[in-house]
Amino acid sequence: MTTRRYLTTPIYYASGEPHLGHAYTTVLGDVLARHYRQQGFDVFFLTGTDEHGQKMQEAARAQGLEPAELADRMAERFRRAWVELDIAYDRFIRTTEPEHIGVVQAILQRLWERDQIYADTYAGWYCIHEERYWTEKDVGEERLCPDCARPVQYVEEKNYFFRMSAYQERLVRHIEEHPDWIVPATRRNEILGFLQKPLQDLSISRPKARLAWGVPLPFDDEHVCYVWVDALINYVTGSGVLTPDGGPDQPGFEDPSGSWWPADLHLMGKDIITTHAVYWPTLLMAAGLPLPRQILAHGWWVVGETKMSKSLGNVVDPLELRETFGTDAVRWYLMRDMPMGSDASYTPERFIQRYEELANVLGNLASRAVSMLVKYRNGVVPDAAGNGLDEAIEQTVSAVESAIADLRVHDAMAASMELARTANGYIETREPWAQAKDPDRAADLDETLATLARVLTVLCALFQPVTPRRMQALADMLGLDGIPTIGRARTLPLAGVTVTRGAPLFPKPELLKE
Ligand code: MSP
Repeated sequence: MTTRRYLTTPIYYASGEPHLGHAYTTVLGDVLARHYRQQGFDVFFLTGTDEHGQKMQEAARAQGLEPAELADRMAERFRRAWVELDIAYDRFIRTTEPEHIGVVQAILQRLWERDQIYADTYAGWYCIHEERYWTEKDVGEERLCPDCARPVQYVEEKNYFFRMSAYQERLVRHIEEHPDWIVPATRRNEILGFLQKPLQDLSISRPKARLAWGVPLPFDDEHVCYVWVDALINYVTGSGVLTPDGGPDQPGFEDPSGSWWPADLHLMGKDIITTHAVYWPTLLMAAGLPLPRQILAHGWWVVGETKMSKSLGNVVDPLELRETFGTDAVRWYLMRDMPMGSDASYTPERFIQRYEELANVLGNLASRAVSMLVKYRNGVVPDAAGNGLDEAIEQTVSAVESAIADLRVHDAMAASMELARTANGYIETREPWAQAKDPDRAADLDETLATLARVLTVLCALFQPVTPRRMQALADMLGLDGIPTIGRARTLPLAGVTVTRGAPLFPKPELLKE
């Protein structure tokens, strides 16, 4: 049984600002990481920025900056955004780091020595913006890039190619033998469909004369590495396979077992599944490195019908939402509102609706229960057995655990919120205010209050990965010594613990008061 989990987000292009779509993948990674930590795993969570390539070079030029200056500025923006959204990453990697450049070159050299790369002449269509070669059929009579609709140009140039075609069969077999390697199944089928056509070799270089902002090939410094190959390798760099000082103790490619490699889970949006599920594993096979254990491709955040993206100018800024509603509200909305694998549509109304759920169901439960404990028992949790919610608690915990095991965070959160709703219903049925008036029912009231203290403790653990700040505030109100794990929350002795009233967990923002 492995006790370690290595999970990654894509590294985001440092040419644009972080938006809600980027925040989604990163929060998802953070929530899973927090669950795994709760479960006792040793976790390594990697995120970072993708800083080479044409887009960076163009974006820098447009702003009158050197690419390196823009990269520094934007890497800082992403890092700060993640800090503000309480992302507890273990490493923030940048592809311009010397360590990463060293690993890219070491892998390319290894592929070269294993005869997995050859030089050839490429003649065909090229989109400068997307840094991609296209076939005659792809560009059509209009000669436009199928991805960005910009005009393509005809090029004839020397290129280095990776023998990707040689790995087609092995890759198909791997996917067929590991049904959960790509989730959800729609994306797995998409890749299997793609692999029904013959796989081409992959151009892995660009002439320096056209694009200087990249990692030079170790065996030909007139060429730089194709940005996607450079970017994918970040996951290996991040694992610490090759340490920068190159001392005798570094794990190395022959035996990466002392590093974090292979990754347990690569998270990404569905837009970049092909690079991760085809280019990446075949490159690893050719380099003789183990494959990542799982790849998850989620859907898109859309506005209306269109994907949220910088080039379309329809992005939502997660940090602006955070200003009004708080960090945890943004995290909750993202995790609760996107079913795994589907697209989700952002609207301000929807965001507010989800916020009100937090405030009116969870927040309200906490304030009612704590107030009653204070009012009727001076804040001291009575020494009584729980009565009435044990089954709901057990069912919720097992629903949450199986949802997390299947990477269905939205289901885990729906189940958790449902428990809070059930607990509010419990208050209505038990009517503690009536029990408090009747001296003969003191034992019933003790039961009610002990049950509420228990369910709040469990909810505190269940919500912790998604709303860590507010759950810390709840743990403080409950007089707990930190936030318990889900397992511990069910059995932690609570009798005699003193609870105190606190500020509302999810206050009504000014905006909603009008
Ligand atoms: N730099 C590459 C990834 C290299 S990984 C080795 C890249 N960067 S990106 O900045 O475009 O970010 C891509 C990722 O951001 C997507 O895969 C997805 O995880 C997230 N999203 C960007 N826009 C998104 C939406 N509108 N909706 C959901 N996620 C989105 O591609």
